[in-house]
Amino acid sequence: MAIAQVVDLVKTYRMGAVEVHALRGVDLAINEGDYMAIMGPSGSGKSTFLNLLGCLDTPTRGSYFLGEQDVARLSDAQLSHIRCHRIGFIFQSYNLIQQLSVVENIEVPLYYQGRSAHESRLRATALAEQVGLADRATHRPHELSGGQQQRVAIARAMANDPFIILADEPTGNLDSATGTEILALLDSLSQQGKTIITVTHDEHVATSAHRVVRFGDGRIVSDT
Ligand SMILES: Nc1ncnc2c1ncn2[C@@H]1O[C@H](COP(=O)(O)OP(=O)(O)O)[C@@H](O)[C@H]1O
Ligand SMILES: [Mg+2]
Repeated sequence: MAIAQVVDLVKTYRMGAVEVHALRGVDLAINEGDYMAIMGPSGSGKSTFLNLLGCLDTPTRGSYFLGEQDVARLSDAQLSHIRCHRIGFIFQSYNLIQQLSVVENIEVPLYYQGRSAHESRLRATALAEQVGLADRATHRPHELSGGQQQRVAIARAMANDPFIILADEPTGNLDSATGTEILALLDSLSQQGKTIITVTHDEHVATSAHRVVRFGDGRIVSDT
């Protein structure tokens, strides 16, 4: 069953008189439980596509159905509500809040959802445990290794029990051994039935994924 579907998605950036055609008409159905790697050369539109899937930006043209709803034309406030309830993000550079502890970082999405402090703490603590950081719960990001910081980011991405987890180069800043650990964590989320879409240059990630979609010049050139 498709939980997300884009139809003729176009994104054109306008920079003064210059138009950049980042996406030139992308059609893709994302099924529940998909574990998808998005690959392709630099500048082919991968990050633009991921940002649209994550409701961080809106397309110039085309539709994006998330569940039943076409989210391509929503206001900023509506998009932020969708991000808060439906999407989990993992970034190459972790994007943790330095002033907050591990468990507090994981609580951030729950805070935005208006969950109670008690419920949030219980859930965040369980998630910290799930990613192997039970003994680091009160540490700050700068006290952690890169791999541990990415584990926190993965736990945070899981906190709102999202429809889709989106990752942009999740192993890009990590050495290969640590990248392998992070990949094992993504694999285990996939085995739990989570829908995961990851942009990557890393062939190991692509091998783990069940579906590889390649972009070229703003279009999908293969989907296997
Ligand atoms: N915010 C932006 N403003 C203008 N052009 C952009 C912007 N973001 C991306 N682009 C351009 O859109 C094209 C696709 O970029 P991007 O989606 O980042 O590709 P990829 O992630 O595959 O490297 C590139 O030509 C890039 O320069
Ligand atoms: Mg990119």
